[in-house]
Amino acid sequence: MMLKYSFLIIIVLFVMILSGCSKQETSPKTSVSSPSGNNRIAFQLNDDGTPTYTVQHQDKTVIDTSTLGFEFKNQAPLKDGFKILGSQLKSKNETWDMVWGEQRKVSNHYNQLTVRLIETQAPERPLNIIFRAYDDGVAFRYELPKQKDAKEVIITDEKTQFQLTGDHTCWWIPGDWDSYEHLYNTTRFSEIDALAKQNSPTLTRTIIPENAVNPPLTMRTSEGLHLSFHEANLTDYSGLTFKVHPSELMMETCLVRSDREGYSVKRDLPFKTPWRSIQISESAAGLIESRLIVNLNEPNKLGDVDWFKPIKYVGIWWEMHLNKSAWDLASGKHGATTENAKAYIDFAAENGIGGVLVEGWNTGWEHWIGFEDREGVFDFVTPYPDYDLEGVVRYGKEKGVEIIMHNETSAAPRTYDQQLETAYSMMHRLGIHSVKSGYVGKIIPDGEYHHGQWMVNHYRRVIEAGAKYQVAVNAHEPIHPTGLRRTYPNIISREGLRGQEFNAWSPDGGNPPEHLSIVAFTRMLAGPIDFTPGVFNIKLKPYKENNHVNTTLAQQLALYVIVYSPIQMACDLIEHYENQPAFQFIRDVGVDWEQTKVINGEVGDFVTIARQERETGNWFLGSLTDENPRSITINFDFLDVDKEYQAIIYRDGQDAHWDKNPTSIDIEKTVINKSMAKTFMLAPGGGLAISLKLKDS
Ligand code: NOJ
Ligand code: CA
Repeated sequence: MMLKYSFLIIIVLFVMILSGCSKQETSPKTSVSSPSGNNRIAFQLNDDGTPTYTVQHQDKTVIDTSTLGFEFKNQAPLKDGFKILGSQLKSKNETWDMVWGEQRKVSNHYNQLTVRLIETQAPERPLNIIFRAYDDGVAFRYELPKQKDAKEVIITDEKTQFQLTGDHTCWWIPGDWDSYEHLYNTTRFSEIDALAKQNSPTLTRTIIPENAVNPPLTMRTSEGLHLSFHEANLTDYSGLTFKVHPSELMMETCLVRSDREGYSVKRDLPFKTPWRSIQISESAAGLIESRLIVNLNEPNKLGDVDWFKPIKYVGIWWEMHLNKSAWDLASGKHGATTENAKAYIDFAAENGIGGVLVEGWNTGWEHWIGFEDREGVFDFVTPYPDYDLEGVVRYGKEKGVEIIMHNETSAAPRTYDQQLETAYSMMHRLGIHSVKSGYVGKIIPDGEYHHGQWMVNHYRRVIEAGAKYQVAVNAHEPIHPTGLRRTYPNIISREGLRGQEFNAWSPDGGNPPEHLSIVAFTRMLAGPIDFTPGVFNIKLKPYKENNHVNTTLAQQLALYVIVYSPIQMACDLIEHYENQPAFQFIRDVGVDWEQTKVINGEVGDFVTIARQERETGNWFLGSLTDENPRSITINFDFLDVDKEYQAIIYRDGQDAHWDKNPTSIDIEKTVINKSMAKTFMLAPGGGLAISLKLKDS
């Protein structure tokens, strides 16, 4: 009897467990909300088994039903005929430390949903999609698990749609596969015409095959919600552009392709794609304070990188862009001489500047620009005869100044790959801890592009060589930043935009006064920028008659705070800083921050940022405006309570103007505390910089 009962109970329990399971199977969780509940991302299968998602912010739909999937070269598309196998929820709430950065502590708080799919018909391939909801945005990535019949996939297209819900105002650059060095356009989404932007004067090459845009792509809805679309953790995959379908208010991923191989991505299974991220903020300022992109990356893999310290630097650089000197020896006006380098070291030492960059020090520059066959040309260990590399490094050490290595590859990455070990071990031996690299020109071999998988992997090998030899990397003509600096804190800064150099030689008149007011809300969301601020000789006379910098001097100072980078150049010729009271700001300003507050801003109009320096607790503030003058009220309530700050205010003179009177600047010393507010006038193309040093308490 007893036995009979036990048997019955076991059967009942078994049936209950089974029905429990199948209940979970038939209605798995398919949406996830952020910790505060303000953002929600939801998954759904269409009637034909196509995976789709939607995004909501509060009660508004931000992304309407958008499909997900892939097209391959070696198998049928993976985009419909799915059923849901199951789903899992997971949450994380952690705080991690930035080794260097905009702030010391970063909160990483999200809820995550993984949806597991499988094709209902043969070959029954699986596909997982991982969704994350943060309070400052959402993101998702694909996971391609192992397949029964294939070891690798060759992706010709990722079919990820973004169905917008309005004709938003967009700040965009064309989806160039070789260069991000374009001016931003401000148009409605329906008016985006990237193909009309083919002939930009960039230093690389312009390949714009589609009506696509490069991320980060920032938008504002008619209700004032700000969205910025990007990718995070770009690893062994092709760079992302967004193909625009103007009349449908829809865009979809368009991966950079290798024309040599005829595909975008080749990967062994299993693997995960980069994250597709959408920052969501009610204010423009909130986009800059968001740490979504770094949070989507893996934790620090390098551990202690105390061999790299954020620094300011000067260098033998601007003089070449001004044609005062040249990179190559044969020109007869070689800039990188031992004597010149020592003069820069002396200047750096006298002004508390930690680094000196020397470009044009190595052989090969005679065959730099305009040469088709650039492989094997540059040598990354052999100096020109008029440059004593070891002697210069030694002289710098004696004066407490580090030399920043320069490796221009002229877009011949195979040559650089061959020399990585030699070049980076030499830097290690010399005690050089950072390098600026460059990829000017069209990539060799033909058919590869700066932003394709082949180059993404090259740039990563360089980072790994740097990590091995304790060298931090600042790449120019790079792949865009995707937050990998969290994982590899030796990725310090990079270019990847129209930097200051365009003001020296660009035939289109340089960067317009609005440029940085857009950059701060677009490119800067991706990561640190080596913009190279600090031109004091704004009209570039007597070097360049037809070029000039289109900002006031006060705006050049403001950039040290606004444009984030752990290395900040004072780019002008050192003689232009002599007897310049405004140079005191560059001496004083921090480069590594305890915290960052975005005080105000509107994309393309103005922005004000305050940052507190690590170690000292001093604050620095920068504000800039576009071509319009503006009055800005700063409430100093971000300062510490009960503390007095000795402030130096560098503001546009009354008659300052980016074109008519750019160097008019007023400098005032005063004492400021938390309870104060002040109103400042910014000139057209102008700015404001304030240093706030704690008074001895
Ligand atoms: C382009 C870089 O952006 C610039 O800073 C550098 O001077 C040249 N390449 C030469 O490497
Ligand atoms: Ca460049």
